[in-house]
Amino acid sequence: MIDLKGKSAVVTGGSRGIGRACALRLAQAGASVAILDRTDWKTPETESCSGQIRRSGGTAVSYELDVSDSAQVDAVFERIAADRGIDILVNNAGVLHAGSATETTDEVWRNQFAINVDGTFFCTRAALRAMLDEGSGGKIINVASISGLRANPGFAAYCASKAAIVNFTRQVGIDYGAQGINVNGVAPGFVETEMTAIYPPEIRAALEGQTPNGKWASPDHIADAVLFLASSLSDHICGEIVAVDGGWLVGTPVVVPAGTSGTVE
Ligand SMILES: NC(=O)c1ccc[n+]([C@@H]2O[C@H](COP(=O)([O-])OP(=O)(O)OC[C@H]3O[C@@H](n4cnc5c(N)ncnc54)[C@H](O)[C@@H]3O)[C@@H](O)[C@H]2O)c1
Repeated sequence: MIDLKGKSAVVTGGSRGIGRACALRLAQAGASVAILDRTDWKTPETESCSGQIRRSGGTAVSYELDVSDSAQVDAVFERIAADRGIDILVNNAGVLHAGSATETTDEVWRNQFAINVDGTFFCTRAALRAMLDEGSGGKIINVASISGLRANPGFAAYCASKAAIVNFTRQVGIDYGAQGINVNGVAPGFVETEMTAIYPPEIRAALEGQTPNGKWASPDHIADAVLFLASSLSDHICGEIVAVDGGWLVGTPVVVPAGTSGTVE
């Protein structure tokens, strides 16, 4: 049982999808959670994530901010650090632009990097400052992607942005390990969220077929790995990227005709 009582966590993009699942997991483990998002998503059927945590007896606050705005990020992190300290940061906020290199405009490229890469950098820097001031270590978990570790056809800007997050994670991971701050990442495969609602059913089925365990992830699968990396169970892991992808990066299933067997010499 992972116990995060007394810990203060910040989750960017934490009001829906993978970020919401992470915020709920961390709160279930006892952490107080600050949810940072460009808007506090709720629908007639679904209450806000912070509201759900508070109704379940946990502690949560939410702030509306754009992670690509460093002044906003610094101001919110300073406030959270002063109010409750910062022990855990999950850099999850992100957007997905589809398009090959020739289909990608300057504006799309810059927006992709502003949110995914600049946002991760601004929040990491602000959290590191708070953690170093407090002097009691910390955990930073970056939500990268399998698209940061392998090429993904038709997603030029997105793949480049996630690859930047992967190596930023490794670099920061080795710079701050000695201060007791573990910086690691997760690389989700295909996850059921608003972001992947763009995939038509035939593409979905094809992607399932390429995944060794034959399934897409739920946001909870990713949150379970994030919870592990946010806990003391990960104290000796620095700058690592954990794939949560049903085996996709390890190998794509190859269909071998029935009856094929024997030795080739
Ligand atoms: N869904 C997948 O299959 C998948 C796979 C690999 C990686 N990821 C990554 O996981 C993360 C979460 O994705 P998701 O699938 O839950 O998508 P999502 O679109 O449901 O959630 C993204 C969240 O980020 C927030 N956000 C976007 N821009 C922001 C900004 N400028 N400032 C603050 N918040 C902002 C959104 O409001 C939203 O709440 C992303 O980084 C994404 O790239 C997703």
